[in-house]
Amino acid sequence: MASVIKLFDEREIAHRVEELATRIAGVIHGEFVVVGILKGSFVFVADLIRALDRAGCAPRVDFIRLSSYGQATESSGDVRLIGEVPSAVAGQVVLLADDVADTGLSLSRAKALLEAAGAAKVWTCAAVDKPSRRRVDFTPDFVCFTVGAQFVVGYGIDRAERYRHLSYIGVVD
Ligand code: IMP
Ligand code: MG
Repeated sequence: MASVIKLFDEREIAHRVEELATRIAGVIHGEFVVVGILKGSFVFVADLIRALDRAGCAPRVDFIRLSSYGQATESSGDVRLIGEVPSAVAGQVVLLADDVADTGLSLSRAKALLEAAGAAKVWTCAAVDKPSRRRVDFTPDFVCFTVGAQFVVGYGIDRAERYRHLSYIGVVD
């Protein structure tokens, strides 16, 4: 495996996730369900739900699975739902969470799917936002880190299924 240049270490990530949870707790009142987009969001969601608990929230947790990259580092533009949208989102406030907002296609497609399944309100968040890469008009409601156009890995985020296990976020050298 190639070496990875660290962008955000474990401490910075923990600090930003804590801040994000505090912000979310100030905006979303009452019951909600965190819906993570698999696979990339699993580490972020695991941290976020515990930070939300410390911020006084008691969210339920669910996941949906989307696929658009395969082995590539560019979105195919064809964002496919693998499996089903959880029916329990009907009438619920949802906080949709992804690892990276890049073209914006995945989060905006997932948001539309949840709305079509009857979600009352869909908030969106991403661990890493890359606004300069957008192909659709989409802005996540909450983000931890904003970066340029570089391809990031670690903290659940992969390149061709590698690097998800890293505790930090970085770029492959
Ligand atoms: P989008 O649909 O183009 O916004 O891309 C979102 C999905 O592509 C994310 O869920 C990631 O899985 C993947 N992705 C986008 N940018 C990166 C990156 O820099 N590193 C790894 N995966 C990425
Ligand atoms: Mg993903």
